[in-house]
Amino acid sequence: MIATRRDALKLAGLAGLGAGLPRGLFAAEEKPELAAQVARLQLLPESYPQTEVWGYGGTIPGREIRVGQGQRLRRRFVNDLPQASSIHWHGIRIDNAMDGVSGLTQDAVAPGGTFDYDFVTPDAGTYWYHAHNRSWEQVARGLHGPLIVDEAEAPDVDREEVLVLDDWLLNPETGQIDDSFGHPMMMSHGGRTGNYVTTNGRYNLSLPVRRHERLRLRLINASNARIFPLKLSGLEGWIVALDGMPLATPAPVEHVLVLGPAQRTDLIVDVLAEEGETADLVHVGDAENFSQVVFTVSGTASQTRRAAPVALPPNPKMDLPDLAGATPLRLVMSGGAMGRMDSAILNGERMAFRELAAAGRFWAFNGVAEMTDTPLADLGLGETVLLEIVNDTVFPHAMHLHGMHFREVSEDGALGPLRDTILVGGRETREIAFTVDNPGDWLFHCHMLGHAASGMTTWVRVT
Ligand code: C2O
Ligand code: CU
Repeated sequence: MIATRRDALKLAGLAGLGAGLPRGLFAAEEKPELAAQVARLQLLPESYPQTEVWGYGGTIPGREIRVGQGQRLRRRFVNDLPQASSIHWHGIRIDNAMDGVSGLTQDAVAPGGTFDYDFVTPDAGTYWYHAHNRSWEQVARGLHGPLIVDEAEAPDVDREEVLVLDDWLLNPETGQIDDSFGHPMMMSHGGRTGNYVTTNGRYNLSLPVRRHERLRLRLINASNARIFPLKLSGLEGWIVALDGMPLATPAPVEHVLVLGPAQRTDLIVDVLAEEGETADLVHVGDAENFSQVVFTVSGTASQTRRAAPVALPPNPKMDLPDLAGATPLRLVMSGGAMGRMDSAILNGERMAFRELAAAGRFWAFNGVAEMTDTPLADLGLGETVLLEIVNDTVFPHAMHLHGMHFREVSEDGALGPLRDTILVGGRETREIAFTVDNPGDWLFHCHMLGHAASGMTTWVRVT
């Protein structure tokens, strides 16, 4: 006898098994497709030509994916691109086989091919997904989208907005994406920074709000290399989560918020601007500031201010790592323009900086300018790692660890919030610690994507 799905459901219900299954199991039975496509859309202002982009679902940013915490997420990736690709679910403490890293956790999916992603989202928060093959090109062409995991109980806000911050390197004459992706100048300096800054694919995103309205803003930096320095105007805000993970106590926004590539910040903001005025998320520039997002105020949500927000509910496995007996690791980052790296290992051989540059390598981790067959470290489950990151270059680097979040250890030994990406300034040394709790091969790389492609990628193995 062939049991139908309905029979199975009935049986499960009868046996009382249904209650123990994750909530998303049945809802996720269908396998929605997520296609990476070539599309033309109006990215520049109306008077300019349309731009050819690569987008998930053909949109910029890619279609929002939203699931409940602890639910199962299934997507059939359909590759309608002219290049092989794969999808990485950035920040999700995922099963390694689903991490989407071409060449490490899976083969890149050829044009016309598919791959079934199927995993559980253990943590609530703001995440994102993006291409992880030739990412310095594919992400720049638009292959990224928000991935939101909802808390079982939503925080007390009037509404939320997901804000994907990005920049584009466009030719203003043709409206097309500049295709100098592997250009040595971009690889060897700060990375590919664009000449056109957008939020949710718009250069002038404007959102209506009411006075005293309380919003949750989910900021995601999806750019290849741009560091967004941001501040609030006409808004009072609190940081409630970083890289998806809730802060134990909401931190009032007092200074400039710095959002490095791949980082996320969840804010709760109250609209203080008067009716008829605007409030802004301000992009702080070297020369001048501009509005990243305009909030136009009309109407009133309440007559009075509210009390400061409470913390978001904690995610599982947020315990502080036990530093006693931690395994010490060290990562020295070198190279780049104006750096002092005169040679490094490539293809197992020592090469002079000039030879490395000719081979498209400008950076090295611990003196090696390539992803090696052997990991940076072989780690055992349950171990604690104390990793010193020495940036011996003049550029900042956004170091991202796959599969596990970490905490910064400050000089006085205090542990910072859980993050998956840390922005390490030029010539800075920082220390991070994490509990090794997810088996598999995990990439550790700079999220300035041109840097990752030209020497700044390594990995750890957890068994
Ligand atoms: Cu968001 Cu390896 O990347
Ligand atoms: Cu870098």
